[in-house]
Amino acid sequence: MPRRTSDSEGDPRELCRDKARGPRLQRVLAEAGVAARRVCEQLIEEGRVEVNGAIIDFLPAFADPESDRITVDGRPIKRRSRKLYVMLNKPTRTITSSADEPEFDRRTVLDLVEHPAADRLFPVGRLDYDTTGLLLLTNDGELANRLTHPRFGVTKTYHAVVKGKLTDDDADSIAQGIYLAERKAGQTSGASRTARVAVSIFKRDRDRTVLELKLTEGRNRQVRRMLAAVGHPVKKLERVAMGPVRLTGLPRGAWRELSRKEIEALRRAVRRGKAGAGEGPSPKRRRSRAESAPAGQASIDPDRVRRAVVRTGHEGDRAERRPRRDRGER
Ligand code: URA
Repeated sequence: MPRRTSDSEGDPRELCRDKARGPRLQRVLAEAGVAARRVCEQLIEEGRVEVNGAIIDFLPAFADPESDRITVDGRPIKRRSRKLYVMLNKPTRTITSSADEPEFDRRTVLDLVEHPAADRLFPVGRLDYDTTGLLLLTNDGELANRLTHPRFGVTKTYHAVVKGKLTDDDADSIAQGIYLAERKAGQTSGASRTARVAVSIFKRDRDRTVLELKLTEGRNRQVRRMLAAVGHPVKKLERVAMGPVRLTGLPRGAWRELSRKEIEALRRAVRRGKAGAGEGPSPKRRRSRAESAPAGQASIDPDRVRRAVVRTGHEGDRAERRPRRDRGER
């Protein structure tokens, strides 16, 4: 939570020397539209800026834009609207949208978030109607964009229960990439290969397999389509983490605000992704994987099949998948 300032908390000049207070004062001023950062530094050094009634004429100085009273030449700066970050444990039979088509009138995720500022929140990416689990909602467009854009490589972790016994071979195919049709403006426009996925099988028997998948992209119904492509339709799907933030402390259908630590962890995750050193493949690698599918499907390297392991994912060479009928299966 933002640190509130009160007279009892001490000398405002001293408080502004504390890095933990918030961003640098020149940045707060620049973001409020006062002037460019450099000019704001000069304004501070000229003694024209006050924080909670005290002149702050030194650098570095730090301020909390949400709770501090900040003025320039005696005039208050524009207050930035508070950034909100909410985690919802989405139940099934709920759409990830703020409103449904009038003829359907289904429950929406925003119906469940009774936050006083819910009208400013929007979902970060989307979960299917029947997918459960972690959905973030925010009014921070920049962070939302970075969390969902594949360039930033933020991992989304899913737990799935699928029909039938998923083989190591199937898991390896998913890990290496599956060709999925792309749809643009309602039209199918060829197929491209999915980026690598880390797959771990938790449990399997004749009738069902429980597994975890870690993805860095978010194509429409991607997990369901990948699993269906290897012959194992999804029975249940839950998202359990987005980057470093895990679904914790929430019963199904409930929501909470993210802690400051969680918000900072998300910001770090998108910074790492941007630098190309984050989770998942580099942007260049991802681009090279998004080729068009050859006719039919891909084939699988027999060596990889032998080496197939229960945990499989961001390692090893790329292998293409041969159609099942070529391998004498179903
Ligand atoms: N992949 C899917 O298939 N569905 C979701 O809801 C999320 C990821």
